[in-house]
Amino acid sequence: MHPMLTIAVKAARRAGNIITQASQNLDLLTVSKKTHSDFVSEVDGAAEEAIIKVLLSAYPDHSILAEESGRQGDTEKSEYQWIIDPLDGTTNFLHGFPKYSVSIALKHKGVLTQAVVYDPNLNELFTATRGAGAYLNNQRLRVSKRTRLADCLIGTGLPFRDFTHMDAYLAMLVDLIPRTVGIRRPGSAALDLAYVAAGRYDGFWEIGLAPWDMAAGCLLITEAGGLVGDLEGNNTQLESGQIVAANPKIFAQLLQVIAPHLTPELIEAQRITKT
Ligand code: IPD
Ligand code: CA
Ligand code: CA
Repeated sequence: MHPMLTIAVKAARRAGNIITQASQNLDLLTVSKKTHSDFVSEVDGAAEEAIIKVLLSAYPDHSILAEESGRQGDTEKSEYQWIIDPLDGTTNFLHGFPKYSVSIALKHKGVLTQAVVYDPNLNELFTATRGAGAYLNNQRLRVSKRTRLADCLIGTGLPFRDFTHMDAYLAMLVDLIPRTVGIRRPGSAALDLAYVAAGRYDGFWEIGLAPWDMAAGCLLITEAGGLVGDLEGNNTQLESGQIVAANPKIFAQLLQVIAPHLTPELIEAQRITKT
């Protein structure tokens, strides 16, 4: 295992332990609201602190982009940036719904090079190193082999915080439901993307994500032989927050169904981030 990935795994497991311990006493948690239906607890902060401590002890010069504490370090000076979601699926966690994960990715000179998504409930550790493949625990991952959208299970995320693109999103959903065998919305985007890498889903799409929801998942998918892009298939997903991911055969078919429902506002969001 690449030494930087080993450190990321150590950090993810440590956060996983904090989350699992707290899950046994959910009533004791102090929960606050960031915005409408966007909750955060002290567990998010404690898990993030633990991750950053492990990473910076090993690599004090690296910079950090983390959901709860924002940016640390100088991205101009450091070639390395860790992108962290300490608890992806906080709403699930707070309800005792066991679908949440820890997501840690590393960018080197702007390119994703290491990825970890850890599910503490199933003890499933998804890892990838650029050029060296994606793994679930010790098993090599490949995206699914399905070739017809009509045979596919597709994951998604429903808008829950920002409803600007609700109509366009619902139009995509309505169009896709009868064209697939089913749509799922478990509630942890990082884990959803890991499931595309693992071939459990054939594809996934969502609008309004943050880089820490997606960074690790994107590398897992490309290293498992899949494709990732924005709603037009371009490479702006980490900046625009609009993502489509799938096996190579299904990617184009998903984009084709989505295309008629793209609004000028959605397209604009992808253009802004491209320049
Ligand atoms: C959320 C989850 C969810 C997705 C949201 C994210 P959080 O992350 O990934 O699946 O639909 O867009 O914000 O807030 O629980 O870390
Ligand atoms: Ca998240
Ligand atoms: Ca989070």
